[in-house]
Amino acid sequence: MLRRSSPLAAFVATGLTLIVPLPAVPAHASTGSGAYVPGSAGLGDPYFPQAGNGGYDVGHYTIRLRFTPKTRHLGATTTITATATENLSRFDLDFSGPKIGKVEVNGERASYARKGQELVVTPRHGLPSGKTFTVEVSYAGRPKAIKDRALGVTGWIDTKDGAVVLAEPDGARSWFPVNDNPRDKATYTFEISAPEGLTVLANGEPKNSGVAGPRGGYRTSTWEMRRPMASYLAMVAIGKFKVTQGVVDGMPNITAYDPSLAKEFKHLHGITAKAITWESKILGDYPFSSTGGVADRLGVYYALETQGRPVYDAGMADEPTIVHELAHQWFGDSVGLRSWKDIWLNEGFASYAEWLYQEQHGGPSAENTFAEHYKHKAGSAFWKLKTGDPGRNGMFDWNAIYVRGAMTVHALRRKIGDETFFTLLRTWTKENRHSTVTTQDLIALAERLSGQNLGDLFDAWLYKAAKPKL
Ligand code: TRP
Ligand code: ZN
Repeated sequence: MLRRSSPLAAFVATGLTLIVPLPAVPAHASTGSGAYVPGSAGLGDPYFPQAGNGGYDVGHYTIRLRFTPKTRHLGATTTITATATENLSRFDLDFSGPKIGKVEVNGERASYARKGQELVVTPRHGLPSGKTFTVEVSYAGRPKAIKDRALGVTGWIDTKDGAVVLAEPDGARSWFPVNDNPRDKATYTFEISAPEGLTVLANGEPKNSGVAGPRGGYRTSTWEMRRPMASYLAMVAIGKFKVTQGVVDGMPNITAYDPSLAKEFKHLHGITAKAITWESKILGDYPFSSTGGVADRLGVYYALETQGRPVYDAGMADEPTIVHELAHQWFGDSVGLRSWKDIWLNEGFASYAEWLYQEQHGGPSAENTFAEHYKHKAGSAFWKLKTGDPGRNGMFDWNAIYVRGAMTVHALRRKIGDETFFTLLRTWTKENRHSTVTTQDLIALAERLSGQNLGDLFDAWLYKAAKPKL
């Protein structure tokens, strides 16, 4: 679902190869006016121009899949419920997964073509603006992770005994056909079959108290994410796991780790509960209906804030990392990005939550942490990228995004004072719950609450590749 409207840049795919030719049926307007036109192949994100698609708004994804770790074979059907936002003669999905068997729109076979990461779907009948339609895509084969020099490994990641999905920023297309842009949030149902003896986890809550009955040596687990979610935050984990189920603040806390990581992650459950309780006090009501975490040996060297249930690679079990991933539930997951260049809104605030956690749990004050980093000399590499627009390959730059992002938040706190600052944190998460935002929205709110003009402060901290004056 799209929460805010925006101009759609046209990235029209050309030179399509039709794989399944069907007799052309002329599209006819049944409601409204205007010709039926192709939806655009991108949403105009400058860092990921191909990601996302124009002309429709997804409401729900149902992802049904069966995975066999031994052969790495995935068989899947993804059903998408969407609403057309213009009269569509055809539309794109983002998909880099295995071989497609068939595509149906509203229950009828549709023709399709694959070009790069675009899956171009041409339905038999035009799709009128404002009308809901369904797309069903069946596919099978061995899914591949997406490897990017600057952004690391994302998507469908094979593990020793199963697989785990981690998809920031654009790995979702490796395992399901998707409108892969963070502004089109949707709800999700996961129906995952895996060989008996393996555990399946996903975002949200297990349905029907966990698992359905055995079927031919496979068991199907259904999980539901009932709150709007960006596609990069969708997660499935299959494998041998030690699962702990508990309750925190009246909701399920479901954590799991690969048995070989028991030593490292035995505190995951308890720290998750402690962090969620503390963060709810500082950041406002927790935005989802369950929490938890999943730890496995992935070899990606990061953790990811997958919605409601972050994923941790081996080596990422420290308390600050857990606090960070859970702070993202407010900053990044519930309050999402409209544009990837604003990634500092995710990472700066999640990193600042670590500073605040330390400050309030007997560690150094945030002021102290800030002062340590501020010692970096003007002209040094530390100040090289723009925090507010680091470039695609700089999205996860430690200095520019994580450290200077948190420093930007602290500079704001110094300027507007503690009372207004802590009100700002809670107002920001409350007013933008389950929505998407821009840096401009943050500046506007901070100015509204403080009564100060903050343009110069944000300009110096975000849009200059230089050490700001204090
Ligand atoms: N967003 C993750 C976090 O900080 C980190 C992350 C995701 C990342 N993808 C990455 C870090 C790629 C480096 C490279 O919680
Ligand atoms: Zn982060």
